[in-house]
Amino acid sequence: MLSFAALYTASLLGAVCGQQAGTLVAENHPPLAVTECAANGCIQTSKAITLDSNWRWLHTTQGFTSCISGNQWDASICSDPVACSTSCALDGADYSSTYGIRTSGNSLTLKYVYSSPFRGSRTFLLDNDSTYKLFNLKNKELAFDVDVSQLPCGLNGALYFAELPADGGISTQVHNKAGAKYGTGYCDSKCPHELKFIAGEANILDWTPSNLDPNSGTGRYGACCAEMDIWEANSISSAYTAHPCSADGLHRCEGSECDGGPTGVCDKDGCDFNPYRLGSKAFFGRGKTIDTNKKFTVLTQFITSNGTAAGDLTEVRRFYVQNGVVRQNSVSSIPGVPASNSLTDSFCSAQKSAFGDTDSFAPKGGLAGIGKAFERGMVLVMSIEDDSDRNMLWLDGTYPPHADPLNPGVVRGECSAGEGIIVEPDDPAPQVKFSNIRYGDLGSTTSVNM
Ligand SMILES: *[C@@H]1O[C@H](CO)[C@@H](O)[C@H](O)[C@H]1NC(C)=O
Ligand SMILES: *[C@@H]1O[C@H](CO)[C@@H](O)[C@H](O)[C@H]1NC(C)=O
Repeated sequence: MLSFAALYTASLLGAVCGQQAGTLVAENHPPLAVTECAANGCIQTSKAITLDSNWRWLHTTQGFTSCISGNQWDASICSDPVACSTSCALDGADYSSTYGIRTSGNSLTLKYVYSSPFRGSRTFLLDNDSTYKLFNLKNKELAFDVDVSQLPCGLNGALYFAELPADGGISTQVHNKAGAKYGTGYCDSKCPHELKFIAGEANILDWTPSNLDPNSGTGRYGACCAEMDIWEANSISSAYTAHPCSADGLHRCEGSECDGGPTGVCDKDGCDFNPYRLGSKAFFGRGKTIDTNKKFTVLTQFITSNGTAAGDLTEVRRFYVQNGVVRQNSVSSIPGVPASNSLTDSFCSAQKSAFGDTDSFAPKGGLAGIGKAFERGMVLVMSIEDDSDRNMLWLDGTYPPHADPLNPGVVRGECSAGEGIIVEPDDPAPQVKFSNIRYGDLGSTTSVNM
């Protein structure tokens, strides 16, 4: 992080005040056009994205001293969580050069910048400069185009919804003065402990630097909330996964509440649909039915119990469009699982049982629980990430790594264990490109006849 200080010594110090907002780098949100559709047509709206606060330079409010360097907090500034929150400011982001994030029209490209202080990036869709856009997709659909051709084993270009507070927590968290403008308030169903701030307080208690990632560590608290993964993928494998939580909105967890088991708040495993894992090995990948060498459209429909937005969420359907051809999702061929091509509560329970996985999905609310999170409003997240803990093998390889690959559900893709360890960047750098995001009434976003 010293490079930042060198870069900005010429800047004038502004009057910066805690999880404060800094003013050394102007925060200019990259614009992104998003389309809203209804039966009578579509309209393009001007939105923008913001970078998650966890990726931002965090420095003293009065100067250039980093509050955390790599994964080591400066104890002279961050003596306790509140002092840290009031003494440290999040600064604006240089999206393109530092983080490899570029928008143009309706497209967003996320490059995997290896040399940046933080690898990869995570962005949120804003409604306006200080508020995330909230989505409720019950009885609606979402479509987007994606290019994963430059995403190898071990990386995940993800598009998903999580139940962040719309204002980033600024109105409810006394020490949070930065808010959605600076990408605060992240949470997901893994109840991440690597967040530097949760509920406006620095997560410095019991902070343990990661021995795998020099820019990451874990604190005492985790940030839990419901998550609907529309798309987690690279050029080898893909999955969509529902992760309900028993808590409404962001819940700061501690101890066993943060676990995935019966004492936990969230369903960390979720109920996933990965075509390869479900037996369709020729469906998704390079040169396969959905050919990841080229761009394609991903369409996801949220079906309710009675065909209205008031009904319970009962099914999440998936279609693809490539070269003008509409493809149904692949159908599960796992013995004991219905020949299904969508997420439903009955598919989820059959899949858990066939794979020998613990079912935390039903106990944490099932699909109806995701529907309730949508009613409260969910935020659109787009990210590119590596996975130093599991090397992304849960998505694209054999997982658990030492399980018998002949057991159903163990093999999720064709990546070997070693391929998921990201050591050096390829040239050109890996990237994912999302474009033409559109949402609205069922049947309204995609002109191809379903
Ligand atoms: C931003 O949008 C929210 C609702 O999404 C609204 O409450 C707020 O007043 C808006 N703020 C500005 C600055 O327009
Ligand atoms: C759909 O289901 C919801 C929840 O049960 C109910 O409130 C609503 O009245 C139902 N609508 C119709 C048209 O049946």
